[in-house]
Parts: sequence; structure tokens; C-alpha cells
Amino acid sequence: MQLIDTHNHLYLEEFDPEQEQLITVAKESGIEKLLLPNVDTTTIDRMHELCDRYPDFAYPMMGLHPTSVDSQYAELLKATESWLGKRSYCGIGEIGIDLYWDKSYLKEQKKVFEEQLLWSIDLRLPVAIHTREAFPEVFDILYKVGPEKLTGVFHSFTGSAAELEEIKKLTNFKIGINGVITFKNSKLSEVIQQTDLQQIVLETDAPYLAPVPYRGKRNEPVYIWKTAEKIAQVYGLPLETVVETTRKNALHLFKIENQPI
Ligand code: NI
Repeated sequence: MQLIDTHNHLYLEEFDPEQEQLITVAKESGIEKLLLPNVDTTTIDRMHELCDRYPDFAYPMMGLHPTSVDSQYAELLKATESWLGKRSYCGIGEIGIDLYWDKSYLKEQKKVFEEQLLWSIDLRLPVAIHTREAFPEVFDILYKVGPEKLTGVFHSFTGSAAELEEIKKLTNFKIGINGVITFKNSKLSEVIQQTDLQQIVLETDAPYLAPVPYRGKRNEPVYIWKTAEKIAQVYGLPLETVVETTRKNALHLFKIENQPI
């Protein structure tokens, strides 16, 4: 069984100096690839460095995270965009709108999100969308740009059944499920049953959102198996089916070259 983690920040300092060891453990467990969304201009070099060390295992995305958007957004966006012609990326991410931490830059967050959606259309790359307490705002922008022109994933989906229905109308979008589905108080297991496994991709969002029984600790790539097991239980399917189907979903969505499906 080979599994793909579609959202992981293993390049962050939280993992120093254990990246090599964590990757060895991940590979031994059957994790085939890690897809690494960027955060902002301070994380780009670290992300590239990790991907350069593990070229057939770690794949970068380029983007500016909504919580890094402030009054300097134009410069940040320019610096982010300058990388797009320099090397290849498997997606634009992570991008979106976050009104949980700070609402003061909503206008700027919307501009930055829209601009990065346009990059993804230009480059024919999927987007990894972060949305927190901003579902209507994210959808406004998606419909402004034209969702039929876009492909992507709603990363760390924890929304309601109604929000899931809205996403299902966007036929080119997948739903990223992580450790939250294992949390005792989460409604996600119920909500997610309203969608087909064909729409789901697996992720950790490491170092955040570690699944039970590691909840509250630093998340690690290998913990993704707990999420896969929970999804298998929720759907009443063999683990192998969940892993293989979500792997195919990820390979179809993201631009990862030379990978037989
Ligand atoms: Ni993330």
C-alpha cells in the first residue's frame, strides 16, 4: 500500500533536525510522497531545500498563506510570484481566506486569494485552499474567477453538510481530510459520509492537527495512517481501498510527473 500526504509542512523549524529520520519512518510505513504547500516568503528557501534533498518524494507548492497577508501584501505577492517561472510546482498553495485569527485585512486577503487563483489558471496548476470562518468569502471569489476554470482541494475540510454540498457543485475540487476526523467532538465523520471517496484526498497538515491518539502533539507524516484508518472505518471499506483511491485522486489532481497511476 502506498499513500500520499497532500498537505504537509515538514520544512518548518518545528521538525529540525529530525526531517531525515521522519522521512525514513514515513517511507518505511508506505508513504510514497509528501506535497508541501508554502506558507510565505520566510518559508520558501526551507521548503525548496527539503524538496531538493528528496526530489522523488517531496514536492513543493508555491503560494502566500492568508494569515501572512498584511499591509505589505503587494510586495509579498510579487516575491511569491517571482518563483513561479524559476522551478516547477505541483500546485498553488496554500491560499485562501482566514477570518479566525484576524479580520482586519479581509480586503487584502480577498485580493491576494483572487490573484493567486489567476496564477493557477495561467499555469494550469491546482490550488490548495485554506478557509477558516470564511466559507462565503472564499466562494464569492471562486465564483468571481470562475470555478470551472479551476481545480484544487479544500484543504483541512471541517465544514458543515451544507458547505460540503456547495463544494460538491464544483466538480473539479477535492476535499482534504486530516486528523480532525479522529477527534471525539468532530462531526466530520458524519458530514463526510455524504460524499464519495473519489472526492477525498488525505493529508496531515503536519505539524498541526495530529490525529488521536497523538492529538495536541506535533503532527508527523506517519500519523496519516490514523486518519486513513478512521476514513476506512467511516466508509466501512478496507484500508487498502481508501489508500489506493485517495492516492489516485491525489495523482490526478496534482501535477506530479512520471507517476504511474
Ligand atoms: Ni497548511
